[in-house]
Amino acid sequence: MAVVVVEGAQWGDEGKGKITDYLASKADIVCRFQGGNNAGHTICFNGKKYALRSLPSGIFNENIVNVIADGVVLNPFMLIDEINEIRNSGFNNFKLLISNRCHLIMPYHLDLDGAYENLLSDKKIGTTKKGIGPCYIDKAARRGIRAGDLLELDFLKEKLNDTLIVKNLELKSLGLKTYDVDELYNKLVEISKVLGKYIADSQYFLNNAIKKGKNILFEGAQGIMLDIDRGTYPYVTSSSPSSNYVPQGAGISPKAIDEVVAICKAYTTRVGEGPFPTELFNDTAELIREKGHEYGTVTHRPRRVGYLDLVILKRNLEMSGATMIALTLFDVLSGIDDLKVCYKYELDGKEIDYIPASLNEYSRCKPIYKNFKSFTIEQDTKSYNDLSKEAKEYISYIEEMTGVKVKILSIGSDREKTLIL
Ligand code: IMP
Repeated sequence: MAVVVVEGAQWGDEGKGKITDYLASKADIVCRFQGGNNAGHTICFNGKKYALRSLPSGIFNENIVNVIADGVVLNPFMLIDEINEIRNSGFNNFKLLISNRCHLIMPYHLDLDGAYENLLSDKKIGTTKKGIGPCYIDKAARRGIRAGDLLELDFLKEKLNDTLIVKNLELKSLGLKTYDVDELYNKLVEISKVLGKYIADSQYFLNNAIKKGKNILFEGAQGIMLDIDRGTYPYVTSSSPSSNYVPQGAGISPKAIDEVVAICKAYTTRVGEGPFPTELFNDTAELIREKGHEYGTVTHRPRRVGYLDLVILKRNLEMSGATMIALTLFDVLSGIDDLKVCYKYELDGKEIDYIPASLNEYSRCKPIYKNFKSFTIEQDTKSYNDLSKEAKEYISYIEEMTGVKVKILSIGSDREKTLIL
């Protein structure tokens, strides 16, 4: 297994959870390297479902060290709730390491996330309102509070004071409640009593693990189209979900990465606002939404649904060095009559095969489609050979256009519905 990255190749919600769980069972370490509790994935333990937000996917396995690395933004209040949920399940033997360099999402970040969105009204981004953007803003502005600060309480109060001078001014100007240094400090002291023992230098830990040849799974959240640089800016998240960010977000060498598994949904979805060339507004969209349970894990919003877009996949797989595709929710397309795949865009009368940086241009892009024959995925499908000719043609076209092989195929939510090709 060695060092493997799992990344979402579209707009998130590609079904990373299932593939990650599958790969996590072979890992010594599972590590989150970006994003925060805007991610959500459901994990089954002892027949009960748990919605993980910040905790890595190996949390229910006592042999796996779960790392929340430098590039993550962490809401310590919510993390304690998540940890309590795990403990309440009767499982206490989890192994968790929180980077001392990761930035903490503070209560005022949530207030500001909501306020910024309200100010934008009809131009809002549609964020998860978890304070992700405002926390990354403070990180870049060099006034963030980091997990490591919880271990140096003597300095924390002074840091908090300096930060709140700026934050309270901003909150006040937006008509929001301000924060009292002592009150917030006391809350963080309580947090440090619970989380302190998990906080350490994750970069040091990870590099030593790599030297020892440990199997490490880097678990991306969201998808590359939500990347702050590569996505449909400003309708993006504030981090970089691709494998490209693993070296930075976890503090490891790019040379350490052996495999990059790009998780691609067999069609496309997105939540929140922003352009989406292959979006559908017809009965096919409804059918896919219902069959694929396309409602947000964190926000429960109905997801926007559309055809597979290979312009997106080709760019994202190429730039992130994907070594294999895990094609998910393939069974959802079973029985869909008017099946199409976008392979180019038409922009102002010209055919293009790239994603324009300009949002205006991208909004004008019209998909150019190749039609596919409808296929059915039979319940008893056990291997690639059991698939129909039509289903195989759909998969081959993805491989041909992206230059990357589909090596994992998911045709249902159960674990045994994962075919290794
Ligand atoms: P934020 O990450 O909460 O700031 O939200 C920014 C954009 O990213 C919004 O369009 C969200 O809907 C989207 N987003 C954030 N996390 C996820 C995710 O896990 N899946 C899908 N979309 C997400």
